[in-house]
Amino acid sequence: MSRSFFIILGFLLLFEPLSVSCTRQLQESEAQSIGEQGGKLGREGGHGSEEFARWVERVGQKHRLKLEQQQARAMQGENGSRLFGEDPSLAPPDLSAMFPGLKQYSDWESVVSPGTYIVVDQNGFGNFRGIWEAIDSIPNDVSRQYRITIQVNAGTYREKLYIGKEKPFITMVGIGDPVIVWDDTKSIAGNRTFESATFGVGGDFFMAINMTFQNSAPAPPPGAVGMQAVALRVTSDVAVFYNCKILGNQDSLYDHNGKHYFKDCFIQGSIDFIFGDGLSIYHKCELNVVPTTSGAVTAQKRQNATDDSGFSFQLCWITGAAGQVYLGRAWGPFSRVVYSYTWMNDVIYAPGWFDWGNYTRQETVYYGQYKCSGPGSNQAGRVTWSHELADWEAAPFLSLSFVDGEAWIPQYMRPVEPLV
Ligand SMILES: *[C@@H]1O[C@H](CO)[C@@H](O)[C@H](O)[C@H]1NC(C)=O
Ligand SMILES: *[C@@H]1O[C@H](CO)[C@@H](O)[C@H](O)[C@H]1NC(C)=O
Ligand SMILES: *[C@@H]1O[C@H](CO)[C@@H](O)[C@H](O)[C@H]1NC(C)=O
Ligand SMILES: *[C@@H]1O[C@H](CO)[C@@H](O)[C@H](O)[C@H]1NC(C)=O
Ligand SMILES: *[C@@H]1O[C@H](CO)[C@@H](O)[C@H](O)[C@H]1NC(C)=O
Repeated sequence: MSRSFFIILGFLLLFEPLSVSCTRQLQESEAQSIGEQGGKLGREGGHGSEEFARWVERVGQKHRLKLEQQQARAMQGENGSRLFGEDPSLAPPDLSAMFPGLKQYSDWESVVSPGTYIVVDQNGFGNFRGIWEAIDSIPNDVSRQYRITIQVNAGTYREKLYIGKEKPFITMVGIGDPVIVWDDTKSIAGNRTFESATFGVGGDFFMAINMTFQNSAPAPPPGAVGMQAVALRVTSDVAVFYNCKILGNQDSLYDHNGKHYFKDCFIQGSIDFIFGDGLSIYHKCELNVVPTTSGAVTAQKRQNATDDSGFSFQLCWITGAAGQVYLGRAWGPFSRVVYSYTWMNDVIYAPGWFDWGNYTRQETVYYGQYKCSGPGSNQAGRVTWSHELADWEAAPFLSLSFVDGEAWIPQYMRPVEPLV
């Protein structure tokens, strides 16, 4: 399809009266951006150079080696329990011996050098006891192009956190299942869903590995207003979440803007629990529905025919028992969501998709399934405006290039066997 076609289409759309008159639910769920422009750069190719991509990959591999060495040490016992902070009576280990290249806080206050590795440990066996201190210690520098790793040791961190656009190339890696938890809701956070997030990230090339992000606000009773409670909000141009848990009820994961890759994650919620205008692949993730009378796994917000955003779920599992839950609701008129090779249990409501009370969206959304299985996957009761995709239709959603992933997803996080 030619570019001019889209330009003309976009032109026509401009003159379509797009007064988004919404249901009450839409307004409630309307998330207000605080004017962050984070998501746009990547799509315009701002970081597209091959050299840069190779660099990211190289860093990823080095990083993995370091973690493997460290895990091997953790396995050896004594050093491991110190690392995990299980025995506070032990003297803090000499972290610089354990992690070659580690800069202790004292010598990196003024200069952060390549390979910086920060350890957060609640028992004092790291550089900081809290995650906020670790983030805050990293100077703002949007042009920094080397990675800073924050290792978060076991524990529950009651912190509300934000990594801004000025702090790119941060990795957070959990050792011993650390949990970051806060409990803001939209109504507490100045009536802004955006601001309810326990953990928000706008820094580019962010990676999280083995981390849990939770919003512990109570589940909204039916008809409740202002109970949106985001656990994780991602606005980074590109970001990777690997083996992470994202836990909440309504609006758990705000996939706000930018290109993102979620692999081997556990994502839990009830209403619109993966929502936003991101362009994302979810590979081998479990989408777990907490008991609810009704809800939706996704509320994707693609705005117009030229907006390239969308969610592609590959080899996922939809689990959870009670309720009638849609695969998606059309938050944006051009909402785009595809589930491929995904197992669905009967928590999925037979019609599958909801137009958000506006039938005109039936003509503009792109909703599909490809080779899914399980009792909830049956096409028989589906709305007529969703599709079982043909091979050629599914192919773009199965490829890493859906998110231009060949350019930036670290090699070791890619599917072992590509789907196409
Ligand atoms: C389409 O949506 C994108 C993303 O929200 C926006 O940046 C762009 O201006 C929109 N284009 C038109 C023609 O409305
Ligand atoms: C439905 O959505 C379309 C386009 O998004 C909009 O132009 C129209 O006003 C909406 N209609 C209603 C009844 O909400
Ligand atoms: C702990 O680490 C030190 C330094 O790396 C090493 O010499 C020692 O053998 C380790 N202890 C155990 C029990 O593995
Ligand atoms: C939040 O919105 C509700 C309903 O619209 C309103 O009654 C309330 O005053 C608002 N609260 C704040 C802090 O703006
Ligand atoms: C993350 O945790 C898994 C176990 O759940 C472990 O196998 C893996 O090595 C860990 N990854 C890193 C980078 O620590």
